[in-house]
Amino acid sequence: MYRSHTCGELRAAHIGKTVTLAGWVQTVRKFGSSMTFVDLRDRYGITQLLFGEELAKELAENPPGREFVLQVKGIVAERSNKNVHIPTGDIEIKVESFTILNKSITPPFTIQDDTDGGDDLRMRYRYLDLRRSAIKKNLELRYAVNRAARNFLHENNFMDLETPFLIKSTPEGARDFVVPSRMNPGQFYALPQSPQTFKQLLMVSGYDRYYQVVKCFRDEDLRADRQPEFTQIDCEMSFVEQEDILEMFEGMIKYIFKTVKGIHYTEKVERMSWEQAMWDYGNDKPDIRFGMKIANLKTPSSVYPELRSQSLKKPVVSKFLEVSPFPVFDQAETVLAIAVPGCGEYTRKQLDELTEWVKRPQIGMKGLAYIKCNADGTCKSSFDKFYDNEGLKEIADHAGAVSGDLVFILAGYEERTRKAMSELRLEMGKRLGLRKETEFRLLWVLDFPLFEYAEEDNRWVARHHPFTSPKPSDIEVMIGNDPAIEDPARYLEHPYARIKANAYDMVLNGNEIGGGSIRIYQRELQEKMFAALGMSPEEAQHKFGFLLGAFEYGAPPHGGIAFGFDRLCAILGGSESIRDFIAFPKNNSGRDVMLDAPGTIDDKQLQELELRLGLQ
Ligand code: AMO
Repeated sequence: MYRSHTCGELRAAHIGKTVTLAGWVQTVRKFGSSMTFVDLRDRYGITQLLFGEELAKELAENPPGREFVLQVKGIVAERSNKNVHIPTGDIEIKVESFTILNKSITPPFTIQDDTDGGDDLRMRYRYLDLRRSAIKKNLELRYAVNRAARNFLHENNFMDLETPFLIKSTPEGARDFVVPSRMNPGQFYALPQSPQTFKQLLMVSGYDRYYQVVKCFRDEDLRADRQPEFTQIDCEMSFVEQEDILEMFEGMIKYIFKTVKGIHYTEKVERMSWEQAMWDYGNDKPDIRFGMKIANLKTPSSVYPELRSQSLKKPVVSKFLEVSPFPVFDQAETVLAIAVPGCGEYTRKQLDELTEWVKRPQIGMKGLAYIKCNADGTCKSSFDKFYDNEGLKEIADHAGAVSGDLVFILAGYEERTRKAMSELRLEMGKRLGLRKETEFRLLWVLDFPLFEYAEEDNRWVARHHPFTSPKPSDIEVMIGNDPAIEDPARYLEHPYARIKANAYDMVLNGNEIGGGSIRIYQRELQEKMFAALGMSPEEAQHKFGFLLGAFEYGAPPHGGIAFGFDRLCAILGGSESIRDFIAFPKNNSGRDVMLDAPGTIDDKQLQELELRLGLQ
């Protein structure tokens, strides 16, 4: 028996017991010539060991160093100098005998919460980094989320079914990772960007509630919340409408909140149309933990024409900005504002710094205009000479500002300006402490457009993926119209620009944690969809013949969703980076620096695969 207890287990109640522990040496502290204290660590905690005088000789002959694997036998004793910060802090082990089970060379960084190791070093020695309790806590949280999701889904009759990794391309908007086939020279598998088509086939087969905690592979540009291989909680259901899916998975997320974080999220998850999100927050995954909504002071008539006509009430377009004495506003396509609460006293220096912030290439604006709303009702702005107090007040009112607030105004091309304002809003939210890690606000974003326009190819692309169904009311618009775009400059007037998808995203604190849709399940509509995306019937048959074929054998109405498991864990753990929640992640260039992968393969392997490298 290597151990009787773990290093996190012993308490005052165990005093007097003889125990055996095994673990890693975290620190060694000598007191005079007779006493040595060792902190012994394992997955469960840290226990203090005391080596007395009787072991001094043996210790001197075989001194345990940092990260040595040590087994000790001894008696649990009360500690004179108690440590209230750790659960085992009341006791220590008076060591009677010890065995060094294995040695360690000096680790390249300290294996403690506040380590001295930089990112790259820790990634190279990830197996040591994983010994740190900060990372261990993250992985424990990951496991708890995994278990909770599985429990919930199992209780609701979902069946965990595996789907293959060596497949043909599934379009999810990224590039595929490909794998050459030795047995089929010159041919390649693609790794799945998601199990999308397989889960739909499982519905055709009658497995009406499927789930899988599954790896997905996407060759795309990486960010803090993206990895080339990541994990989804992937789900699909038959005989459902959008409402059924929203209900079910709202339930799952709330269950995860309760079991993992002890949070009783009792209120209904808010819902917002994509249009509303774009108008009020400038992006499709708004952080609704705080207000500071975007005021649309001036928007071009060519943008979002459907927004003007449909579900939204008319956007606020201030008349006096249509023709403005201030050339920057006058010449801009779009003018947007936010009212930042209580920042009317910002100094010149603070304003200059924020102006530089919006001018950074990532944001790309030419400048930042502001109006300070003073307590006495007067306004002070960066464009005073073009407006009197009345005019400034009117703009500030439009932005929803009250006295003491600071109004920020950005002007420029629609898309860039809206994106920039969305970023500025988030930045101000962060600076004002309105984006609290401990506050969780869920949101369903609904009614996405089915298509996006790809300027470079002058064609439509699927916003979600090509298997997403249009809203029932829009099916006829799709069937009845030719997808060809005659005048690219007026693509927004094409009927396809108005078609809404039966799709939904779940957003948590401004992050997209899940997305899904009700699917097309009839061959004819699916063919129409492929045609709309510019695929010839032959190409559609070649790429997706298996799915089109399956739809001819009684495909049930179905729909589903996939959650970004790594992302969900990171947010629940209060982090922005998903890497901290993955045992062996890749770095920002998609490299595993520990394995030094990707790497070259030898000539023999290339020959077997009948591959020749062209660019050397
Ligand atoms: P989607 O592409 O929206 O949908 O992916 C679902 C969720 O997966 C997460 N995610 C990622 N996480 C980490 N790294 C990445 N590179 C990455 N890409 C996506 C996001 C996202 O919301 N088959 C559909 C689902 C469906 O329709 O049922 C799909 O994959 O949190």
